Amino acid sequence: MEFRKKTIAVFFGGCSTEYEVSLKSAFSVIKSIDTEKYQLVLIGIERRTGKWLWYRGELEKIRDNCWYQEMCTPVFPSMDKKLHGFHYMKEGSLCIQSLDAAFPILHGKNGEDGTVQGILELMGVPVIGCDLLCSALCMNKEMAHRVVAAAGIRTAKAEILRTGNTEEEVRTAAHRIGYPLFVKPVRAGSSFGIAKVFSERELPGAVEEAFRHDSIVILEEEIKGFEVGCAILGTEELLTGEVDEIELSQGFFNYTEKYTLKTSGIHVPARISAEKAEEIKKTAIKIYRLLGCSFFARVDMFLSPAGEIYFNEVNTIPGFTAHSRYPNMLKAAGLSFDEIIEKILGVKPL
Ligand SMILES: Nc1ncnc2c1ncn2[C@@H]1O[C@H](COP(=O)(O)OP(=O)(O)O)[C@@H](O)[C@H]1O
Ligand SMILES: [Mg+2]
Repeated sequence: MEFRKKTIAVFFGGCSTEYEVSLKSAFSVIKSIDTEKYQLVLIGIERRTGKWLWYRGELEKIRDNCWYQEMCTPVFPSMDKKLHGFHYMKEGSLCIQSLDAAFPILHGKNGEDGTVQGILELMGVPVIGCDLLCSALCMNKEMAHRVVAAAGIRTAKAEILRTGNTEEEVRTAAHRIGYPLFVKPVRAGSSFGIAKVFSERELPGAVEEAFRHDSIVILEEEIKGFEVGCAILGTEELLTGEVDEIELSQGFFNYTEKYTLKTSGIHVPARISAEKAEEIKKTAIKIYRLLGCSFFARVDMFLSPAGEIYFNEVNTIPGFTAHSRYPNMLKAAGLSFDEIIEKILGVKPL
């Protein structure tokens, strides 16, 4: 029987504040995919317009954010599930490109939040990654916390703010939490719009900034100790990486620290006992299942000085550069970057 390569669309870019991060992640992933086995269709999503463009140029131009200047053809999702792909124009005719699967490497809003996953579902294209509901749930810090807390896993004490809240209501909510506290947009990523607030004086500015990113804002008590992460790969059978640990020397894990590690460090494996690492992995798997994750995700938690594990968030499309936490945690468990991608592409959907 003749071997037919599977056609996979890799999505990169996106209408999101994390557009640039996506370009770097996608560049690493695309480079690693075995083109003997898979035919790749690269779909760039323009930052401002959200337009889908089929890119056929050099890979380095994706990393360097100049991919959109040439070799791009607009594509239009087909809602005919039998076609399971998209339309595009070629020499004045409407053509069809069918897809066997789509691999969104998009971070944050309009990509990691279920929106693109929903369109792919309507198109009849299987998604390599979490589905619509799981993506939307994990993107929403309030809802994800509710689901996880209902299963008895610790979460930070929190209060929800909406745009209509008065200053007095905001102050009262913060008072119930106590200082220092974290102010965060409910749906964002890469620490955009997040502030650690030490006193009531800093509260209005931080809340205003968070509302610039979302119409719902969450106030959270500070969990002392440090943040730990667990990389999970699979849908039914799960693989976990080594637990990692974020060592901060000041402030919190903000955008600059995440991408430059100027004053912070990441330890893989975390400097904790084997028993505690096992407990963290078990908790991460429980969270992964509770939120309905599939294919891959990074589960972030805090470990308090008393050794208690708190849920922080799940990144359904974590960073995928060669230096990112997700691949590094799996590397520490013995998998190379290429093997990680190969395994992800080979996960059987439910
Ligand atoms: N409740 C909390 N207690 C302590 N630190 C926190 C808390 N919430 C957030 N942080 C700090 O802020 C960073 C970003 O918050 P996070 O909720 O992970 O948002 P993002 O989705 O942007 O990564 C975390 O990595 C951590 O350093
Ligand atoms: Mg985070």
